Amino acid sequence: MISLFDLRTNPDPKTVAAIAALYEEQPRYKALHPDKIKACIGCWSCWVKTPGRCICKDSMAETCPDYVNADKVILLMDTAQGFINHNAKAFIDRTIPHYHPYIEIVAGECHHKARYERYPELHFYYDDEQGLIPEEAQVIEDYLYRTAYHFRSKAYRIHKNPAWDLKELLPRSARNNSLKPNATQKVDKLIIYNGSPRIQGSNTALILKAISEAYGAQSVIRDLKQKKMWTQWAADFSSENAVIFFLPLYVHAMPSHVMAFLEMLQPSNGSMGFIVQQGFPESSQSYFLEAYFENLTRRLERDYIGTAIKGGIEGFQLQPAKQQEKIIAPFVELIGSVLESGQMSAQILANLADPVYLSKGTLFLFKVLAPTGLIQFYWDRQLKQNNAFQQRSDKPFAEVEK
Ligand SMILES: Cc1cc2nc3c(=O)[nH]c(=O)nc-3n(C[C@H](O)[C@H](O)[C@H](O)COP(=O)(O)O)c2cc1C
Repeated sequence: MISLFDLRTNPDPKTVAAIAALYEEQPRYKALHPDKIKACIGCWSCWVKTPGRCICKDSMAETCPDYVNADKVILLMDTAQGFINHNAKAFIDRTIPHYHPYIEIVAGECHHKARYERYPELHFYYDDEQGLIPEEAQVIEDYLYRTAYHFRSKAYRIHKNPAWDLKELLPRSARNNSLKPNATQKVDKLIIYNGSPRIQGSNTALILKAISEAYGAQSVIRDLKQKKMWTQWAADFSSENAVIFFLPLYVHAMPSHVMAFLEMLQPSNGSMGFIVQQGFPESSQSYFLEAYFENLTRRLERDYIGTAIKGGIEGFQLQPAKQQEKIIAPFVELIGSVLESGQMSAQILANLADPVYLSKGTLFLFKVLAPTGLIQFYWDRQLKQNNAFQQRSDKPFAEVEK
């Protein structure tokens, strides 16, 4: 089976027909207009309450059988602000239930274990003539390859020019670090956006609370969950000198509602920076997003405050209060360095980013501990608390063999 999900705002039958003609069988077509896919809210129900199923019952939920049982999934996407747009990002975030919360090491990196026996190839189409500069087109391609690789899918791009064609995507390192922090103005008032979609128990919110307590009115915290404020905030952006987006990593990039807000921003004077915190311990997992944020800063013609990355944050709220304070302290210092000098201190950035890759010692420890189940304790405990442990290996959308 071949499934085609059209995530574009304005689906056109001509493009769909030209793409369908590339395949040996007629793809099953489903249009998922932006208002059809709700953003993932990071509740983890799909991992610890109803394994393999998202609690959100919208059109996206209906796609699951046609996704997991397909040989090929074709995604037609729009780009915006030099990246895939928020609707395409929402689709990708919502595929998380098809994987386990459990971690395994693949080629020295953390990955999530597979829930299903096999996964479809992913074929991506977007119009790269939609105002993308080569660096942006490159970052999008790298991001899509990276995502497919973690999803255990082969990745292809569908090209329109010079003729309709398919090209396999190959591994490439992230193009991060192409922009160095260059903002130099002392900051009187720093706007910080909280980009976590979590309604309860957000790690970002907890760290921001400490930042707010430390700097009072010098830091203005705004929660992007307040969608009704977006138009106002996007207009204010143009006259605000220093702005930081603080967000959790969602499938190698930003949560989709953050992308929706970023799409509203216009080029303007001033500076911008990013703080990304993530579940996996090694900060290099956020390098593909860092590469995008550098492109975005250039696109919006702002000076660059820097991008901070901190791994191993999922579950940090279970740690003793003293340990939590130790984790939060460098974030507070980081904001202090921005207020003082306009940009993130290189030393604090390096401190937060450690470990960038998993060390040989960690990999060895992982190998020894993996068979004991100790590594999966965090998720097993939550599955048991929710009486869902017996269902942990469910494959709710797999076609039953006849
Ligand atoms: C849909 C989804 C995708 C995620 N993708 C990643 C990922 O690609 N890499 C990673 O290290 N962590 C990933 N995480 C984990 C979050 O980054 C981590 O749990 C973070 O601490 C959540 O922060 P918050 O509580 O402020 O929302 C993901 C979480 C969710 C819900």
